[in-house]
Amino acid sequence: MSSNDINSTLVENRLFPPSEEFVANARIKPADFTALHKQAEDDYEGFWANQAKQNIDWHKPFTTVLDDSNAPHYQWFTDGELNLSYNCIDKHLATQADKTAIIFEGEKGDTRHISYQQLHDDVCQFANGMKARGIKKGDRVIIYMPMTAEAVIAMQACARIGAIHSVVFGGFSADSLRDRIDDAGAVMLITADGGHRGGKIVELKEAADKSLAKAGSTIENVIVLKRTGHDINMQQGRDHWWHDIIEDQSTECEPEWVNATHPLFLLYTSGSTGKPKGIQHSTAGYLLNAIVTNLWVFDLQDKDIFWCTADVGWITGHTYVAFGPLAAGSTVVIYEGAPVVPDAGRFWKICEELKVTIFYTAPTAIRALMKFGDEFPNKYDLSSIRLLGTVGEPINPEAWMWYHKVIGKERCPIVDTWWQTETGANMIAPIPGAVSTKPGSCTLPLPGIIADVVNEQGESITEANKGGYLVIRKPFPSMLQTVWGDDQRYVDTYFPKFDGKYYLAGDSARRDADGYFWIMGRIDDVVNISGHRLGTMEVESALVAHERVVEAAVVSRPHEVKGEAIVAFVICQGERPVGEEAEKMVQELRAWVGEQIGAIAKPDDIRFADGLPKTRSGKIMRRLLRNIARGEEITQDISTLENEGVVKQLQGKE
Ligand code: WTA
Repeated sequence: MSSNDINSTLVENRLFPPSEEFVANARIKPADFTALHKQAEDDYEGFWANQAKQNIDWHKPFTTVLDDSNAPHYQWFTDGELNLSYNCIDKHLATQADKTAIIFEGEKGDTRHISYQQLHDDVCQFANGMKARGIKKGDRVIIYMPMTAEAVIAMQACARIGAIHSVVFGGFSADSLRDRIDDAGAVMLITADGGHRGGKIVELKEAADKSLAKAGSTIENVIVLKRTGHDINMQQGRDHWWHDIIEDQSTECEPEWVNATHPLFLLYTSGSTGKPKGIQHSTAGYLLNAIVTNLWVFDLQDKDIFWCTADVGWITGHTYVAFGPLAAGSTVVIYEGAPVVPDAGRFWKICEELKVTIFYTAPTAIRALMKFGDEFPNKYDLSSIRLLGTVGEPINPEAWMWYHKVIGKERCPIVDTWWQTETGANMIAPIPGAVSTKPGSCTLPLPGIIADVVNEQGESITEANKGGYLVIRKPFPSMLQTVWGDDQRYVDTYFPKFDGKYYLAGDSARRDADGYFWIMGRIDDVVNISGHRLGTMEVESALVAHERVVEAAVVSRPHEVKGEAIVAFVICQGERPVGEEAEKMVQELRAWVGEQIGAIAKPDDIRFADGLPKTRSGKIMRRLLRNIARGEEITQDISTLENEGVVKQLQGKE
């Protein structure tokens, strides 16, 4: 960790307690909060066992709580059996079959309300359709869809029959999709003709076709939802319309009862190498933290309408759209499109019209909408909202205060939730009726989550505001199980230090004098663009795959809206491109990276030089590159550089 990472300059002393009214109606009141923490401290396994009994309907009860005999592989509730889709849907049918489970709104304004009974029927029909195409327990199924109710139906249907789904975000390119298909060894791909976003059609089927065109794909069947209705290619024998495969299927489908540790899904995420890793989650442990965090952090209650704006292509869309809120019997909102269509008031209009009570989004969206001014939110009645949330990156106090005042009208607590794809659910976050908030802090670990900030030796840092490694000292139910197909990478990435005892999150953090956690940033080569994780190595690999590129180094610099922006330093074959040729090359490389990974990975800034600054031992001087990218003064000794001139070139001075 560099000293840059651990020096904190941010001082924020404002404290926002929840209103008396909020506390009076909250699920978890201060006394409950203390009691939960005490139970977890007194009897850690007993605490989680109780939660698992209370919150999950078991087909066969578990007798083992935590099996840690094969650490750092931990298994929870090992001999229990359950079905996730049963827990999200069937469980509620006796009491609330007619309650709305999903409210869908398309970008063009089309809406659909789906009751729990209807969701049951849709999921069963689709599950039966998948079975008819040969899908069985353990098969991998890729979901590459627009943000629609059907995306959730597909996820639930996979869970119902024990198939392992992997959702690939619709913004990823054909190449990224193919990498994930190959890594997972998937046999089915579920997609759509397209989706509506930003006033345009996202050509999902076209990208899917492109990804399958390369020989050797394991995909046998492609299911295509008709969403846009525009012309697409359907390959006979391989491609089937969604509406055709559900035709004549029964609306009953007996859930496949799976073991607690049966993989529920894989979700690919970036790490410090060029290749994304398939994070594997269990069924029961994942479900448990998904449910309890929806109840504790989002205070989900019977009348709530919960809108988490995340796409199901990300972990947030899994835990706080597709699974958790449904398992808690709530109503979720799904919106297909962009926040600025037809204008920057769209989110607030949806909140007013659908009477959203809980709104959860990313700081990047808040900053982007804030730039359009207060008149958009002020046009709408936001009085239904009672709780706000953020996730994905640190929120700057300015954006926090805007969210608090202009959206929350100083009435709604803001839950800033720290967690990761790997942790499956919120880990450090305020329980809103019990914990006062501070702008920019994710506050305190949840009950049963033993988070800590430690030094290089693994010792707890007790000094206030001193930065260190963020770790979780004890295994928790929703912890990832492994990296699909690469178990060694699981061990090496998450347990490389401290004798393999603690889960290493990959973030640095500090604690203030009240014990509040403040996330300071990543300690690995992962950057956070608009709340989305990207490995700098991934972007580098994409760049060097271009025929003219010899070498590339990628760093980030702060960005007002996106949080971070990508800056790439590139060495080309032959003469260094300058002037018009350089401009053309920049456009070409941006498009190239877009094709290789997806639009979010396109560098904001590309600079060419004759070489990269390296140490004598040949290591790229990344800190120097970061200084250059940020336009900072260079204080390091660069006299040992073989070619000092490259620094000037990279600074754009030559
Ligand atoms: C960052 C998203 C500060 C962090 C759920 C983490 C945050 C990475 C916060 C995981 C937060 C997430 N405050 N930083 N509230 N939430 N992060 O896997 O660096 O897409 O390691 O999961 O996002 O990103 P991922």
